[in-house]
Amino acid sequence: MPFLTEEPHGTAKALFLGSAFWFLVGTLEGLTGAVHLAAPDLLGNISWLVFGRIRPVHTSTMIFGFVGSALLGAAFCLVPMLSRVPLWSERLGKVTVWLWNLAIVAGTATLALGHSQSREYAEWIWPVDVVVLFGLALVFLNLLCTVAARRENTLYISAWYILAALVTTFFIYFFGNAVWNPRTGAISGMPDAILAWFYGHGVVGLFLTPLAVAVAYYVVPNVARSPLYSHTLSLVGFWSLLMIYTHIGAHHLLQTPIPTWLKVLAVSGSIAMVIPVATVLVNLWLTMRGRLGLFHEDPGGKFVMAGLVWYLLVCLQGPLQSLPVVQRVTHLNNWVVAHAHMGVLGFAGTIGLGGMYFLLPRVTGRPLHSRVLADLQYWLVLLGMAGFFVVLTAAGLVQGNSWLNGETVYRTLPMLHPYMVVRVGVGVLLFGAAAVGLYNVVRSLREPEGGAG
Ligand code: HEM
Ligand code: HEM
Repeated sequence: MPFLTEEPHGTAKALFLGSAFWFLVGTLEGLTGAVHLAAPDLLGNISWLVFGRIRPVHTSTMIFGFVGSALLGAAFCLVPMLSRVPLWSERLGKVTVWLWNLAIVAGTATLALGHSQSREYAEWIWPVDVVVLFGLALVFLNLLCTVAARRENTLYISAWYILAALVTTFFIYFFGNAVWNPRTGAISGMPDAILAWFYGHGVVGLFLTPLAVAVAYYVVPNVARSPLYSHTLSLVGFWSLLMIYTHIGAHHLLQTPIPTWLKVLAVSGSIAMVIPVATVLVNLWLTMRGRLGLFHEDPGGKFVMAGLVWYLLVCLQGPLQSLPVVQRVTHLNNWVVAHAHMGVLGFAGTIGLGGMYFLLPRVTGRPLHSRVLADLQYWLVLLGMAGFFVVLTAAGLVQGNSWLNGETVYRTLPMLHPYMVVRVGVGVLLFGAAAVGLYNVVRSLREPEGGAG
Protein backbone atom coordinates (compact mmCIF):
# COMPACT_ATOMS: atom_id res chain seq x y z
CA MET A 1 0.00 0.00 0.00
CA PRO A 2 1.51 3.36 -1.02
CA PHE A 3 0.52 5.08 2.23
CA LEU A 4 2.46 2.54 4.29
CA THR A 5 5.88 3.06 2.65
CA GLU A 6 9.26 3.24 4.40
CA GLU A 7 9.82 6.78 2.98
CA PRO A 8 12.28 8.54 5.34
CA HIS A 9 10.53 10.90 7.79
CA GLY A 10 7.14 9.94 6.30
CA THR A 11 5.62 9.54 9.77
CA ALA A 12 6.74 12.96 10.96
CA LYS A 13 5.54 14.64 7.76
CA ALA A 14 2.12 13.00 8.05
CA LEU A 15 1.80 14.13 11.67
CA PHE A 16 2.79 17.71 10.77
CA LEU A 17 0.18 17.78 8.03
CA GLY A 18 -2.43 16.39 10.44
CA SER A 19 -1.51 19.00 13.05
CA ALA A 20 -1.96 21.88 10.60
CA PHE A 21 -5.30 20.46 9.48
CA TRP A 22 -6.64 19.94 13.02
CA PHE A 23 -5.50 23.44 14.01
CA LEU A 24 -7.87 24.83 11.38
CA VAL A 25 -10.74 22.50 12.31
CA GLY A 26 -10.21 23.14 16.03
CA THR A 27 -10.27 26.93 15.68
CA LEU A 28 -13.52 26.63 13.72
CA GLU A 29 -14.99 24.56 16.55
CA GLY A 30 -13.67 27.07 19.12
CA LEU A 31 -15.23 29.92 17.13
CA THR A 32 -18.57 28.10 17.08
CA GLY A 33 -18.42 27.76 20.88
CA ALA A 34 -17.43 31.41 21.21
CA VAL A 35 -20.37 32.50 19.02
CA HIS A 36 -22.69 30.53 21.31
CA LEU A 37 -21.40 32.46 24.30
CA ALA A 38 -21.70 35.85 22.53
CA ALA A 39 -25.03 35.23 20.77
CA PRO A 40 -26.68 32.11 22.22
CA ASP A 41 -29.59 32.09 19.75
CA LEU A 42 -27.65 32.74 16.56
CA LEU A 43 -26.93 29.12 15.66
CA GLY A 44 -30.38 27.89 16.63
CA ASN A 45 -30.69 24.53 18.30
CA ILE A 46 -28.70 22.32 15.92
CA SER A 47 -27.99 19.38 18.20
CA TRP A 48 -24.41 18.63 17.10
CA LEU A 49 -23.43 22.29 17.43
CA VAL A 50 -24.79 23.04 20.91
CA PHE A 51 -22.22 24.35 23.37
CA GLY A 52 -22.18 21.18 25.51
CA ARG A 53 -21.06 19.14 22.50
CA ILE A 54 -18.87 21.61 20.63
CA ARG A 55 -16.77 22.41 23.72
CA PRO A 56 -15.34 18.89 24.26
CA VAL A 57 -15.06 18.50 20.48
CA HIS A 58 -12.92 21.69 20.47
CA THR A 59 -10.72 20.79 23.44
CA SER A 60 -9.98 17.25 22.26
CA THR A 61 -9.27 18.40 18.69
CA MET A 62 -6.81 20.97 20.02
CA ILE A 63 -5.08 18.78 22.60
CA PHE A 64 -4.77 15.59 20.55
CA GLY A 65 -5.23 16.83 16.98
CA PHE A 66 -3.34 20.11 16.72
CA VAL A 67 -0.82 20.20 19.58
CA GLY A 68 -0.49 16.44 20.14
CA SER A 69 0.17 15.71 16.46
CA ALA A 70 2.74 18.53 16.10
CA LEU A 71 4.66 17.39 19.18
CA LEU A 72 4.50 13.70 18.26
CA GLY A 73 5.66 14.59 14.73
CA ALA A 74 8.65 16.37 16.29
CA ALA A 75 9.28 13.35 18.53
CA PHE A 76 9.41 11.10 15.45
CA CYS A 77 12.15 13.37 14.05
CA LEU A 78 14.11 14.01 17.23
CA VAL A 79 14.50 10.48 18.57
CA PRO A 80 16.11 9.11 15.37
CA MET A 81 18.26 12.25 14.97
CA LEU A 82 19.48 12.07 18.57
CA SER A 83 20.11 8.32 18.25
CA ARG A 84 21.87 8.81 14.89
CA VAL A 85 19.86 6.01 13.26
CA PRO A 86 16.74 6.02 11.07
CA LEU A 87 13.38 5.45 12.71
CA TRP A 88 12.97 1.73 13.60
CA SER A 89 9.92 1.39 11.35
CA GLU A 90 8.38 4.14 9.21
CA ARG A 91 5.70 1.65 8.22
CA LEU A 92 4.65 1.11 11.83
CA GLY A 93 4.89 4.88 12.29
CA LYS A 94 2.38 5.39 9.48
CA VAL A 95 0.06 2.83 11.08
CA THR A 96 0.12 4.90 14.27
CA VAL A 97 -0.61 8.09 12.33
CA TRP A 98 -3.72 6.42 10.89
CA LEU A 99 -4.77 5.16 14.32
CA TRP A 100 -4.20 8.57 15.89
CA ASN A 101 -6.29 10.35 13.25
CA LEU A 102 -8.93 7.64 13.32
CA ALA A 103 -9.29 8.27 17.06
CA ILE A 104 -9.64 12.04 16.53
CA VAL A 105 -12.22 11.64 13.75
CA ALA A 106 -14.19 8.99 15.66
CA GLY A 107 -13.93 10.98 18.91
CA THR A 108 -15.18 14.13 17.19
CA ALA A 109 -18.05 12.34 15.43
CA THR A 110 -19.26 10.45 18.49
CA LEU A 111 -19.10 13.54 20.72
CA ALA A 112 -21.02 15.53 18.11
CA LEU A 113 -23.66 12.79 18.08
CA GLY A 114 -23.94 13.07 21.86
CA HIS A 115 -21.92 10.04 23.01
CA SER A 116 -19.68 11.19 25.83
CA GLN A 117 -18.07 9.89 29.03
CA SER A 118 -18.86 13.38 30.41
CA ARG A 119 -15.54 13.77 32.22
CA GLU A 120 -13.50 16.80 31.22
CA TYR A 121 -10.77 15.99 28.65
CA ALA A 122 -11.72 12.27 29.00
CA GLU A 123 -14.97 12.61 27.05
CA TRP A 124 -14.12 10.20 24.24
CA ILE A 125 -15.97 6.90 24.60
CA TRP A 126 -14.41 3.48 25.20
CA PRO A 127 -13.77 2.30 21.60
CA VAL A 128 -11.94 5.56 20.90
CA ASP A 129 -9.93 5.17 24.13
CA VAL A 130 -8.79 1.74 23.00
CA VAL A 131 -7.56 3.14 19.67
CA VAL A 132 -5.66 5.94 21.47
CA LEU A 133 -4.00 3.48 23.85
CA PHE A 134 -3.08 1.16 21.04
CA GLY A 135 -1.60 4.08 19.10
CA LEU A 136 0.41 5.34 22.08
CA ALA A 137 1.80 1.86 22.76
CA LEU A 138 2.93 1.50 19.14
CA VAL A 139 4.56 4.95 19.13
CA PHE A 140 6.45 3.98 22.30
CA LEU A 141 7.54 0.65 20.81
CA ASN A 142 8.79 2.32 17.64
CA LEU A 143 10.76 5.01 19.46
CA LEU A 144 12.12 2.61 22.08
CA CYS A 145 13.43 0.26 19.39
CA THR A 146 14.99 3.27 17.65
CA VAL A 147 16.77 4.24 20.87
CA ALA A 148 17.83 0.62 21.45
CA ALA A 149 19.52 0.57 18.03
CA ARG A 150 21.23 3.93 18.61
CA ARG A 151 24.77 4.78 17.54
CA GLU A 152 25.04 7.61 20.07
CA ASN A 153 26.01 6.55 23.58
CA THR A 154 24.58 9.41 25.58
CA LEU A 155 20.86 9.92 25.38
CA TYR A 156 20.14 13.66 25.16
CA ILE A 157 17.48 15.06 27.50
CA SER A 158 14.87 15.51 24.72
CA ALA A 159 14.75 11.72 24.19
CA TRP A 160 14.26 11.19 27.95
CA TYR A 161 11.33 13.58 28.00
CA ILE A 162 9.73 12.00 24.92
CA LEU A 163 9.93 8.42 26.19
CA ALA A 164 8.73 9.44 29.66
CA ALA A 165 5.81 11.37 28.15
CA LEU A 166 4.68 8.28 26.24
CA VAL A 167 4.85 6.01 29.30
CA THR A 168 3.08 8.45 31.63
CA THR A 169 0.43 9.34 29.03
CA PHE A 170 -0.38 5.68 28.40
CA PHE A 171 -0.98 5.06 32.11
CA ILE A 172 -2.82 8.27 32.96
CA TYR A 173 -5.01 7.74 29.89
CA PHE A 174 -5.73 4.13 30.86
CA PHE A 175 -6.58 4.90 34.49
CA GLY A 176 -8.12 8.31 33.88
CA ASN A 177 -10.60 6.89 31.36
CA ALA A 178 -11.30 3.86 33.59
CA VAL A 179 -10.79 1.71 30.51
CA TRP A 180 -11.69 -1.46 32.46
CA ASN A 181 -15.19 0.00 32.76
CA PRO A 182 -16.32 0.26 29.10
CA ARG A 183 -19.93 1.18 29.83
CA THR A 184 -19.26 4.41 31.74
CA GLY A 185 -15.54 5.06 31.45
CA ALA A 186 -15.73 6.09 35.09
CA ILE A 187 -15.77 4.77 38.63
CA SER A 188 -18.18 6.28 41.14
CA GLY A 189 -18.41 9.05 43.70
CA MET A 190 -15.60 11.30 44.89
CA PRO A 191 -12.83 8.86 43.88
CA ASP A 192 -14.00 9.31 40.31
CA ALA A 193 -13.53 13.08 40.50
CA ILE A 194 -10.02 12.55 41.88
CA LEU A 195 -9.20 10.03 39.16
CA ALA A 196 -10.65 12.28 36.46
CA TRP A 197 -8.52 15.24 37.58
CA PHE A 198 -5.35 13.24 37.90
CA TYR A 199 -6.02 12.50 34.25
CA GLY A 200 -7.15 16.01 33.19
CA HIS A 201 -4.11 17.51 34.88
CA GLY A 202 -1.81 14.78 33.56
CA VAL A 203 -2.87 15.25 29.97
CA VAL A 204 -1.43 18.77 30.02
CA GLY A 205 1.39 18.15 32.51
CA LEU A 206 2.62 14.73 31.46
CA PHE A 207 1.67 14.59 27.77
CA LEU A 208 1.94 18.13 26.37
CA THR A 209 4.49 19.61 28.79
CA PRO A 210 7.32 17.03 28.51
CA LEU A 211 6.93 16.79 24.73
CA ALA A 212 7.03 20.58 24.37
CA VAL A 213 10.03 20.84 26.70
CA ALA A 214 11.76 18.10 24.65
CA VAL A 215 11.28 20.17 21.48
CA ALA A 216 12.55 23.34 23.19
CA TYR A 217 15.65 21.50 24.48
CA TYR A 218 16.44 20.49 20.89
CA VAL A 219 15.59 23.67 19.03
CA VAL A 220 17.16 26.24 21.39
CA PRO A 221 20.80 25.01 21.34
CA ASN A 222 20.53 24.39 17.58
CA VAL A 223 19.24 27.86 16.76
CA ALA A 224 21.65 29.48 19.25
CA ARG A 225 24.50 27.42 17.74
CA SER A 226 25.73 26.86 21.25
CA PRO A 227 25.85 23.79 23.51
CA LEU A 228 23.22 23.41 26.22
CA TYR A 229 24.18 25.50 29.28
CA SER A 230 23.91 22.56 31.72
CA HIS A 231 23.08 18.88 31.26
CA THR A 232 22.90 18.39 35.04
CA LEU A 233 20.25 21.09 35.32
CA SER A 234 18.27 19.42 32.54
CA LEU A 235 18.19 16.17 34.54
CA VAL A 236 17.14 17.98 37.72
CA GLY A 237 14.23 19.44 35.75
CA PHE A 238 13.29 16.08 34.26
CA TRP A 239 13.18 14.13 37.53
CA SER A 240 11.52 16.91 39.50
CA LEU A 241 8.77 17.18 36.84
CA LEU A 242 8.08 13.46 37.20
CA MET A 243 8.17 13.64 40.99
CA ILE A 244 5.96 16.71 41.39
CA TYR A 245 3.58 17.04 38.42
CA THR A 246 2.33 13.47 38.82
CA HIS A 247 0.38 14.02 42.03
CA ILE A 248 -0.93 17.59 42.13
CA GLY A 249 -4.11 17.05 40.08
CA ALA A 250 -6.23 17.66 43.18
CA HIS A 251 -5.60 21.42 42.86
CA HIS A 252 -8.61 21.30 40.50
CA LEU A 253 -10.77 20.04 43.36
CA LEU A 254 -10.02 22.38 46.22
CA GLN A 255 -13.72 23.27 46.71
CA THR A 256 -14.85 19.65 46.90
CA PRO A 257 -14.99 17.19 49.83
CA ILE A 258 -11.80 15.31 48.94
CA PRO A 259 -9.40 14.51 51.85
CA THR A 260 -7.60 17.57 53.22
CA TRP A 261 -4.18 15.89 53.02
CA LEU A 262 -4.69 15.53 49.28
CA LYS A 263 -5.45 19.23 48.96
CA VAL A 264 -2.37 20.14 51.01
CA LEU A 265 -0.25 17.86 48.84
CA ALA A 266 -1.71 19.43 45.69
CA VAL A 267 -1.17 23.04 46.80
CA SER A 268 2.35 22.49 48.14
CA GLY A 269 3.25 20.47 45.04
CA SER A 270 1.90 23.26 42.82
CA ILE A 271 4.25 25.75 44.51
CA ALA A 272 7.13 23.25 44.19
CA MET A 273 6.49 23.20 40.42
CA VAL A 274 8.75 26.23 40.35
CA ILE A 275 11.69 23.76 40.47
CA PRO A 276 11.09 21.85 37.20
CA VAL A 277 9.89 24.99 35.44
CA ALA A 278 12.73 27.27 36.56
CA THR A 279 15.43 24.69 35.75
CA VAL A 280 14.15 24.39 32.17
CA LEU A 281 13.78 28.12 31.64
CA VAL A 282 17.06 29.16 33.28
CA ASN A 283 18.93 26.45 31.40
CA LEU A 284 17.48 27.43 28.02
CA TRP A 285 17.72 31.17 28.56
CA LEU A 286 21.37 30.89 29.58
CA THR A 287 21.92 28.81 26.43
CA MET A 288 20.46 31.56 24.23
CA ARG A 289 22.04 34.46 26.15
CA GLY A 290 23.58 37.01 23.79
CA ARG A 291 22.20 35.21 20.73
CA LEU A 292 18.62 36.46 20.55
CA GLY A 293 19.16 37.81 17.03
CA LEU A 294 19.49 34.24 15.77
CA PHE A 295 16.04 33.43 17.15
CA HIS A 296 14.56 36.41 15.43
CA GLU A 297 15.86 35.11 12.09
CA ASP A 298 14.70 31.51 12.47
CA PRO A 299 10.94 30.89 12.07
CA GLY A 300 11.06 27.79 14.28
CA GLY A 301 13.30 29.41 16.88
CA LYS A 302 11.01 32.42 17.08
CA PHE A 303 7.93 30.31 17.87
CA VAL A 304 9.84 28.25 20.46
CA MET A 305 11.14 31.36 22.16
CA ALA A 306 7.62 32.84 22.39
CA GLY A 307 6.35 29.49 23.74
CA LEU A 308 8.96 29.63 26.50
CA VAL A 309 7.81 33.09 27.54
CA TRP A 310 4.23 31.78 27.77
CA TYR A 311 5.58 28.82 29.77
CA LEU A 312 7.01 31.27 32.29
CA LEU A 313 3.75 33.20 32.51
CA VAL A 314 1.45 30.16 32.76
CA CYS A 315 3.67 28.62 35.42
CA LEU A 316 3.78 31.82 37.46
CA GLN A 317 0.01 31.95 37.28
CA GLY A 318 -0.51 28.21 38.00
CA PRO A 319 0.96 28.08 41.53
CA LEU A 320 -0.77 31.36 42.37
CA GLN A 321 -4.21 30.11 41.35
CA SER A 322 -3.72 26.87 43.28
CA LEU A 323 -3.99 28.88 46.52
CA PRO A 324 -7.51 28.61 47.99
CA VAL A 325 -7.56 32.32 48.75
CA VAL A 326 -6.98 33.12 45.06
CA GLN A 327 -9.38 30.43 43.82
CA ARG A 328 -12.19 32.14 45.71
CA VAL A 329 -12.16 34.63 42.85
CA THR A 330 -10.70 32.68 39.95
CA HIS A 331 -12.25 29.20 40.15
CA LEU A 332 -14.95 28.08 37.69
CA ASN A 333 -14.83 31.13 35.48
CA ASN A 334 -13.07 32.57 32.44
CA TRP A 335 -9.84 33.21 34.39
CA VAL A 336 -9.18 29.45 34.13
CA VAL A 337 -10.14 29.43 30.44
CA ALA A 338 -7.46 32.12 29.90
CA HIS A 339 -4.93 30.00 31.81
CA ALA A 340 -5.89 26.94 29.75
CA HIS A 341 -5.38 28.74 26.42
CA MET A 342 -2.12 30.20 27.70
CA GLY A 343 -0.86 26.70 28.56
CA VAL A 344 -2.21 24.64 25.69
CA LEU A 345 -1.92 27.25 22.90
CA GLY A 346 0.61 29.81 24.22
CA PHE A 347 3.12 27.33 25.58
CA ALA A 348 2.59 23.83 24.11
CA GLY A 349 0.91 24.84 20.82
CA THR A 350 3.40 27.59 20.02
CA ILE A 351 6.35 25.28 20.75
CA GLY A 352 4.61 22.60 18.63
CA LEU A 353 4.48 25.09 15.74
CA GLY A 354 8.12 26.07 16.39
CA GLY A 355 9.26 22.45 16.33
CA MET A 356 7.35 21.88 13.11
CA TYR A 357 8.82 24.92 11.33
CA PHE A 358 12.31 24.09 12.57
CA LEU A 359 12.10 20.46 11.49
CA LEU A 360 10.11 20.72 8.23
CA PRO A 361 13.12 21.90 6.16
CA ARG A 362 15.22 19.13 7.70
CA VAL A 363 12.76 16.39 6.81
CA THR A 364 11.86 17.66 3.34
CA GLY A 365 15.42 18.67 2.44
CA ARG A 366 14.35 22.12 1.20
CA PRO A 367 13.39 25.46 2.78
CA LEU A 368 9.90 26.28 4.03
CA HIS A 369 7.52 27.30 1.26
CA SER A 370 7.27 30.78 2.75
CA ARG A 371 9.04 32.38 5.69
CA VAL A 372 6.83 35.43 5.23
CA LEU A 373 3.71 33.33 5.85
CA ALA A 374 5.36 31.65 8.85
CA ASP A 375 6.09 35.14 10.21
CA LEU A 376 2.52 36.24 9.56
CA GLN A 377 1.25 33.18 11.41
CA TYR A 378 3.62 33.93 14.28
CA TRP A 379 2.19 37.42 14.73
CA LEU A 380 -1.41 36.24 14.40
CA VAL A 381 -0.85 33.54 17.02
CA LEU A 382 0.95 35.97 19.32
CA LEU A 383 -1.74 38.65 19.00
CA GLY A 384 -4.56 36.12 19.27
CA MET A 385 -3.06 34.52 22.37
CA ALA A 386 -2.37 37.88 24.03
CA GLY A 387 -5.93 38.96 23.16
CA PHE A 388 -7.41 35.80 24.70
CA PHE A 389 -5.33 36.29 27.82
CA VAL A 390 -6.46 39.89 28.38
CA VAL A 391 -10.13 39.40 27.47
CA LEU A 392 -10.70 36.13 29.32
CA THR A 393 -8.75 37.14 32.42
CA ALA A 394 -10.75 40.37 32.66
CA ALA A 395 -14.03 38.50 32.11
CA GLY A 396 -13.01 35.98 34.79
CA LEU A 397 -12.32 38.75 37.29
CA VAL A 398 -15.72 40.30 36.59
CA GLN A 399 -17.43 36.91 37.07
CA GLY A 400 -15.43 35.95 40.16
CA ASN A 401 -15.98 39.25 41.93
CA SER A 402 -19.66 39.29 41.03
CA TRP A 403 -20.18 35.87 42.59
CA LEU A 404 -18.10 36.78 45.62
CA ASN A 405 -20.22 39.88 46.16
CA GLY A 406 -23.52 38.02 45.76
CA GLU A 407 -24.38 39.71 42.47
CA THR A 408 -27.22 38.05 40.58
CA VAL A 409 -26.60 36.13 37.37
CA TYR A 410 -29.00 38.28 35.32
CA ARG A 411 -26.92 41.36 36.20
CA THR A 412 -23.57 39.62 35.66
CA LEU A 413 -24.31 38.16 32.23
CA PRO A 414 -24.77 41.52 30.45
CA MET A 415 -21.45 42.65 31.97
CA LEU A 416 -19.75 39.65 30.33
CA HIS A 417 -21.29 40.19 26.92
CA PRO A 418 -18.73 42.68 25.51
CA TYR A 419 -15.87 40.37 26.50
CA MET A 420 -17.51 37.44 24.72
CA VAL A 421 -17.97 39.53 21.57
CA VAL A 422 -14.30 40.60 21.58
CA ARG A 423 -13.31 36.94 22.09
CA VAL A 424 -15.07 36.03 18.83
CA GLY A 425 -13.02 38.73 17.08
CA VAL A 426 -9.78 37.44 18.57
CA GLY A 427 -10.81 33.92 17.54
CA VAL A 428 -11.02 35.11 13.93
CA LEU A 429 -7.32 36.09 14.14
CA LEU A 430 -6.46 32.58 15.31
CA PHE A 431 -8.60 31.04 12.59
CA GLY A 432 -6.60 33.14 10.10
CA ALA A 433 -3.37 31.92 11.71
CA ALA A 434 -4.44 28.31 11.29
CA ALA A 435 -5.47 28.84 7.64
CA VAL A 436 -2.14 30.49 6.77
CA GLY A 437 -0.30 27.68 8.57
CA LEU A 438 -2.15 24.90 6.75
CA TYR A 439 -1.42 26.49 3.38
CA ASN A 440 2.27 26.91 4.22
CA VAL A 441 2.67 23.37 5.55
CA VAL A 442 0.89 21.78 2.56
CA ARG A 443 3.00 23.78 0.10
CA SER A 444 6.20 23.05 2.03
CA LEU A 445 5.48 19.33 1.91
CA ARG A 446 4.38 19.23 -1.72
CA GLU A 447 6.63 21.67 -3.52
CA PRO A 448 9.47 20.19 -5.52
CA GLU A 449 11.51 23.25 -4.65
CA GLY A 450 11.15 25.75 -1.80
CA GLY A 451 10.50 29.19 -2.36
CA ALA A 452 8.15 32.09 -2.11
CA GLY A 453 9.42 33.78 1.02
C1 HEM B 1 3.45 25.40 37.51
C2 HEM B 1 2.64 24.91 36.64
C3 HEM B 1 1.14 24.92 36.76
C4 HEM B 1 0.34 24.94 37.85
C5 HEM B 1 0.75 24.93 39.31
C6 HEM B 1 -1.04 24.95 37.37
C7 HEM B 1 -2.15 25.00 38.18
C8 HEM B 1 -3.44 24.96 37.74
C9 HEM B 1 -4.61 25.03 38.59
C10 HEM B 1 -4.59 25.21 40.10
C11 HEM B 1 -5.70 24.93 37.79
C12 HEM B 1 -7.16 24.89 38.25
C13 HEM B 1 -7.74 26.23 38.37
C14 HEM B 1 -9.17 26.19 38.83
O1 HEM B 1 -9.94 25.31 38.41
O2 HEM B 1 -9.52 27.06 39.61
C15 HEM B 1 -5.24 24.79 36.43
C16 HEM B 1 -6.05 24.63 35.32
C17 HEM B 1 -5.58 24.32 34.07
N1 HEM B 1 -4.26 24.27 33.68
FE1 HEM B 1 -2.66 24.69 34.80
N2 HEM B 1 -1.02 24.94 36.00
C18 HEM B 1 0.29 24.90 35.58
C19 HEM B 1 0.74 24.86 34.28
C20 HEM B 1 -0.05 24.51 33.21
C21 HEM B 1 0.44 24.21 31.89
C22 HEM B 1 1.92 24.23 31.49
C23 HEM B 1 -0.64 23.89 31.12
C24 HEM B 1 -0.69 23.48 29.67
C25 HEM B 1 0.24 22.82 29.06
C26 HEM B 1 -1.82 24.01 31.97
C27 HEM B 1 -3.11 23.75 31.56
C28 HEM B 1 -4.23 23.90 32.35
C29 HEM B 1 -5.57 23.69 31.86
C30 HEM B 1 -5.99 23.24 30.45
C31 HEM B 1 -6.43 23.97 32.95
C32 HEM B 1 -7.96 23.98 32.90
C33 HEM B 1 -8.53 22.80 33.50
C34 HEM B 1 -10.07 22.93 33.49
O3 HEM B 1 -10.63 22.76 32.42
O4 HEM B 1 -10.63 23.24 34.53
N3 HEM B 1 -1.42 24.40 33.21
N4 HEM B 1 -3.85 24.82 36.43
C1 HEM C 1 -10.44 30.44 17.13
C2 HEM C 1 -9.76 30.29 18.24
C3 HEM C 1 -10.38 29.75 19.48
C4 HEM C 1 -11.59 30.05 20.03
C5 HEM C 1 -12.61 31.03 19.53
C6 HEM C 1 -11.71 29.26 21.22
C7 HEM C 1 -12.82 29.24 22.04
C8 HEM C 1 -13.01 28.45 23.13
C9 HEM C 1 -14.21 28.36 23.91
C10 HEM C 1 -15.49 29.13 23.64
C11 HEM C 1 -13.99 27.49 24.93
C12 HEM C 1 -14.97 27.11 26.03
C13 HEM C 1 -14.77 28.02 27.21
C14 HEM C 1 -15.78 27.81 28.29
O1 HEM C 1 -16.09 26.67 28.66
O2 HEM C 1 -16.29 28.83 28.80
C15 HEM C 1 -12.63 27.02 24.80
C16 HEM C 1 -12.03 26.14 25.65
C17 HEM C 1 -10.76 25.64 25.47
N1 HEM C 1 -9.94 25.87 24.38
FE1 HEM C 1 -10.25 27.17 22.89
N2 HEM C 1 -10.59 28.52 21.39
C18 HEM C 1 -9.75 28.78 20.33
C19 HEM C 1 -8.50 28.24 20.11
C20 HEM C 1 -7.92 27.32 20.93
C21 HEM C 1 -6.60 26.77 20.71
C22 HEM C 1 -5.71 27.13 19.53
C23 HEM C 1 -6.38 25.90 21.74
C24 HEM C 1 -5.19 25.07 22.01
C25 HEM C 1 -4.19 24.90 21.23
C26 HEM C 1 -7.54 25.89 22.60
C27 HEM C 1 -7.69 25.14 23.75
C28 HEM C 1 -8.76 25.17 24.60
C29 HEM C 1 -8.84 24.50 25.88
C30 HEM C 1 -7.75 23.63 26.51
C31 HEM C 1 -10.09 24.80 26.44
C32 HEM C 1 -10.63 24.36 27.79
C33 HEM C 1 -10.60 25.53 28.73
C34 HEM C 1 -10.96 25.22 30.16
O3 HEM C 1 -11.63 24.24 30.41
O4 HEM C 1 -10.57 25.96 31.06
N3 HEM C 1 -8.46 26.77 22.07
N4 HEM C 1 -12.06 27.60 23.68
